Amino acid sequence: MNLKVVYFTRTGNSKRVAEKIASKLNADLIQISDHHNWKGLIGYIRAGFYSTVDKKVKMTLSQPIESYDELIVVSPLWAGGAAPAIRAFFKMFPKNKSHLVITSIGSTIKDRIGYLSLTDIVQREHREDEVIDTLVSKIKEI
Ligand SMILES: Cc1cc2nc3c(=O)[nH]c(=O)nc-3n(C[C@H](O)[C@H](O)[C@H](O)COP(=O)(O)O)c2cc1C
Repeated sequence: MNLKVVYFTRTGNSKRVAEKIASKLNADLIQISDHHNWKGLIGYIRAGFYSTVDKKVKMTLSQPIESYDELIVVSPLWAGGAAPAIRAFFKMFPKNKSHLVITSIGSTIKDRIGYLSLTDIVQREHREDEVIDTLVSKIKEI
């Protein structure tokens, strides 16, 4: 199966998770960028604002996604939803061919409909590797 792992990250958690999944599935790893500076406290506040009011961003990919069977899309949870760059990604790529993986501190994503699967990696639960292994086994079975 032709699988691509796509991720957006602000502080590296979603990147780490995406790297582990891509390595276990031997899949291409593609970074989404939105060219905003979300760093520091000001960036955090701006990120919260963008997420809360669903403000649109433009996203670019580190390499083009031409052909694939399924996508694994890794995003941080921002104010209860996927990061704006991931929302922009799903305007161009289908949810129903995507396994969504959400990294967060303690809560889970509200809008859970339409994906091939949805996996929450909640830092407070300290189960990152176990949850990744379960997802990878499920994808390999399909
Ligand atoms: C603007 C913003 C909003 C966030 N909202 C939530 C939230 O609602 N629930 C939660 O558990 N974590 C929330 N977080 C924490 C991130 O989801 C978490 O740290 C994530 O793993 C960061 O991923 P990254 O390192 O790939 O950027 C938020 C972080 C940011 C920057």
